[in-house]
Amino acid sequence: MSVDQLSQGRKEEMAEVSNAAKTPQGPIQVPTRLLMGPGPTTAHPRILTAQALPLLGHMHPPFIHIMDEIKEGLRYMFQTESPYTLMISGTGHAGMEAAIANLLEPGEKIIVGVNGIWGERVADLAERYQGDVIQLKADPGKTFSIAELKAAVAQHKPAILFLVQGESSTGTHQALGDGLGEACKAAGTLLVVDTVASLGGVPLFADNWGIDCIYSGSQKCLSGPPGAAPFFMSQRAVDKLKGRKTKPATYNLDLNLIADYWGWFKPARSYHHTGVVSTFYAMREALAIVGEEGLPAMWARHLAAHQLLWKGLRELGLQPYVPDVKDRLVTVNTIKVPEGVDWAALCKDAMDTYAVEIAGGLGPSIGKVWRVGVMGFNARPMAVEQVLTAFRHGLAKQGYKQPAAAAGKSEL
Ligand SMILES: Cc1ncc(COP(=O)(O)O)c(C=O)c1O
Repeated sequence: MSVDQLSQGRKEEMAEVSNAAKTPQGPIQVPTRLLMGPGPTTAHPRILTAQALPLLGHMHPPFIHIMDEIKEGLRYMFQTESPYTLMISGTGHAGMEAAIANLLEPGEKIIVGVNGIWGERVADLAERYQGDVIQLKADPGKTFSIAELKAAVAQHKPAILFLVQGESSTGTHQALGDGLGEACKAAGTLLVVDTVASLGGVPLFADNWGIDCIYSGSQKCLSGPPGAAPFFMSQRAVDKLKGRKTKPATYNLDLNLIADYWGWFKPARSYHHTGVVSTFYAMREALAIVGEEGLPAMWARHLAAHQLLWKGLRELGLQPYVPDVKDRLVTVNTIKVPEGVDWAALCKDAMDTYAVEIAGGLGPSIGKVWRVGVMGFNARPMAVEQVLTAFRHGLAKQGYKQPAAAAGKSEL
């Protein structure tokens, strides 16, 4: 074919372009909202600024330096000395799938703690990777006792015990200490934990608690944009990964390959995928902000915001969905919808009147609760007071009468 013939062909193709579908018109419009649902939470302005910096190549030395800073920052975040930390390019679900796809081999047993939708999803995911799934169930709003978890591990000796630290669909906080990690080690079990809705908001000690694999999300207590999942593996988990009899049934999330992009096993880096450059900038900045505040202060700030929220909610006569105070998650709060109140109308009023996001339930809590997140940048009095104002207004609009016994009551 001659160059002229090629040009003629291209001209004919150009004439065929259809304009039936329109591209977006004009500059993007994004309203300002206070995100007080289960996530994403309002991003920290400094993180958004970092995200807007010029792109670097995903293998350029200055970018590799940023990746190294992230690995180090994550060691602080997870409280570990393990060199095996990285960010998965993808949201919390990508972290979830990376954990299961890489640590479970076909036919192996996995015990999944199911007390909300995240356990349900992991059970589904583990089945897809041909695991022998044992579901350990607790009622929504309840958690598992360490004794029952230890007993289940001793009985089944699974390859993995999976737990969700912060069950954001029901608002529960799963305890992970008290020798659970040692019991898993003794049974040859890897302890895998979802911290998407809890990392940075509540204490977590990967090494001291003997956790083997943790994934999280960037858009909750880290106040970043969604799109990158903090990830950790212990030496035991890495040994399992390296000793697999079969390749993980995913290329995209194969940690043997991703590890070589992050320099886990050797200093030289190799290309696996194009890292989410701007989101990694954001995460580098998020970790710097965490370091400046310090984890103890950050955890205390989240607890104080949670307590302030419940003081106000109790004064309105509202009740927690999670009965036992020790099981209540600080970061994502589940609030019972009183008889006769339209939960969706209240969410709509909060958005329309105050531009405040209040979410409804998810999975087992649909129609039963509101979910309010006090996470990251929004775990502060100004944001909590705005959400309380939206509740006061929305409830009054529906003619809600506060129960007499609750008037003025403010205990947690
Ligand atoms: C506890 C928990 N796990 C996993 C996820 C999934 O994360 P993502 O939506 O970032 O994929 C979420 C999201 O809300 C979550 O709260």
